[in-house]
Amino acid sequence: MTNKKLNLVVSSGAGISAESGISTFRDAGGLWENYPVMDVASADGFERNPALVHRFYNERRKALGRTIPNRAHKILHELEEFFNVYVITQNVDDLHERAGSTNVLHLHGELMKMRAVDEPSFIRQLPSYDAETSVDTVVDRHHMRPHIVFFQEAVPMFEPATEIVEKADIFVIIGTSLVVYPAAALVRYVRPGVPVYYIDPNPGTNIPAGVHVIRAKATEGMAQLTEILKKQLKA
Ligand code: APR
Repeated sequence: MTNKKLNLVVSSGAGISAESGISTFRDAGGLWENYPVMDVASADGFERNPALVHRFYNERRKALGRTIPNRAHKILHELEEFFNVYVITQNVDDLHERAGSTNVLHLHGELMKMRAVDEPSFIRQLPSYDAETSVDTVVDRHHMRPHIVFFQEAVPMFEPATEIVEKADIFVIIGTSLVVYPAAALVRYVRPGVPVYYIDPNPGTNIPAGVHVIRAKATEGMAQLTEILKKQLKA
């Protein structure tokens, strides 16, 4: 291809990692059916019982260490040959990075990082999937917490994400129920006329007009989308 590469911007949610064996949040048997969300993933919950919150994310991190990226993550990496691919993910796993994606923005934080309770910009990588944090974890005199955006907290990466979406030539939503804001509002920043695809076996009801829905699991849906994109490149 000799023309300038188009910007393919992808907004991913828990569904893209489902086929890697990571539970989604709101499907039957999802995480929020088994854990009280406001206890383990809210600012109030962390204040009430930080030890429980640390334990919850330690478990998630260990489980992440036992998973690998699936074909959907890998296809997104492979598409970098033809497009400038930007992944904006609500996921706190590292499967996009492990699949090789170059540009990954995490809206809701990262399991493999911790940050200072008193200084949001003081962020440290955790050394392994078995690494644990606790109320006693202190780095350079800072008490540390999971690097997760809790419910009731601001989403500092939202604005940078909107700037990426504004540059999209193609926008793809994959594996998200589109119920959590502001992430669900990203599609509003797409320029008029830009094609939008939504891959999900059970798409949410909050689908903006004009979106092309691909009702399929992430791996199958990404394969279908690749065929569509190839035809567009040839056209
Ligand atoms: N492939 C693609 N999508 C799938 C698959 C699959 N194999 N399996 C399930 N899904 C879809 C579901 O149909 C659903 O629409 O993934 C979506 C998962 O929705 P949620 O569980 O609500 O996850 P998500 O939208 O990522 O949640 C947003 O909520 O709890 C918070 O911070 C957490 O980032 C998370 C946010």
